[in-house]
Amino acid sequence: MVRETSLSVDNLIAPLFVCEGKNVKDEISAMPGVYRLSIDTLVKEVSECHALGIPAVILFGIPDKKDALGSEAYNPDGITQRAIREIKSSTPEMAVITDVCIDEYTDHGHCGLVEGDKVLNDPTLELLAAIARTHADAGADIVAPSDMMDGRVAAIRKELDGSGHQDTIIMSYAAKYASAFYGPFREAANSAPSFGDRKSYQMDPANRLEALREVRQDIEEGADIVMVKPALPYLDIIRDVREEFDVPLAAYNVSGEYSMIRAAAEKGWIDGERAMMESLMSIKRAGAGMILTYFAREAAYLLNR
Ligand code: PBG
Repeated sequence: MVRETSLSVDNLIAPLFVCEGKNVKDEISAMPGVYRLSIDTLVKEVSECHALGIPAVILFGIPDKKDALGSEAYNPDGITQRAIREIKSSTPEMAVITDVCIDEYTDHGHCGLVEGDKVLNDPTLELLAAIARTHADAGADIVAPSDMMDGRVAAIRKELDGSGHQDTIIMSYAAKYASAFYGPFREAANSAPSFGDRKSYQMDPANRLEALREVRQDIEEGADIVMVKPALPYLDIIRDVREEFDVPLAAYNVSGEYSMIRAAAEKGWIDGERAMMESLMSIKRAGAGMILTYFAREAAYLLNR
């Protein structure tokens, strides 16, 4: 009766990795319980998520071919585009969010086009807009740019509006920090940068005001939902954004946050279930209405019990 915060299955978004092949369910070694799935197994996973009441999934495509331009990312028949179509025909009620970025598709692993050792902001925008459009064409409900190039929300909005996708929602990774907690994801997506780091486009963990500027800019450019990422080391940022703006707010409980709890629980050092629920509750309490988490299924199962 006096509890101030409640966590519900409605708050959860399940990240899923999709790869080529048939009947693939390949466990990611740094993320026990998380798999690379081929489209056929992905479709089953999505219908199980739906049965648990999880309202949305976010897809990360892992292509067989990578090149300097990340051209598989905007191939209308690329892995992500085909996965969206299959999910929308088998479980149309599931909201499909797609990660819009090129790092999983480039041979250099950066989130933008590269010249020498520089990541180019402006020339990347056109590519991101093309990726978002192919996702919307395939039936994605929400596109989520995670690249952190400046101006990408405006570029994507313009492209979507011009191609009949006025209703496609943009969830921007607005305040995304240059974080060590993405390590296990980069193994999953094989997307670690081959040189340098992402500090020229992702944020300095020391900065708080800059997060508000990044979020404000994305809202002005047309973002419908904004995100703070990672979640647990940045609960203060989630709270700041919640107090400053009135748009829906998501937080990404990233791979490293997941793997730490799984690893410690495997060793018997902490109670994994309790640590999971406490983390998710804390993110909700900080002010996020949506939580992207690899714990989505497990947490949904407990919440439904
Ligand atoms: C970039 C992207 C990353 C994550 C989501 N989108 C990796 C990065 O910026 O290096 C990380 C998610 C996680 O760690 O769970 N496309």
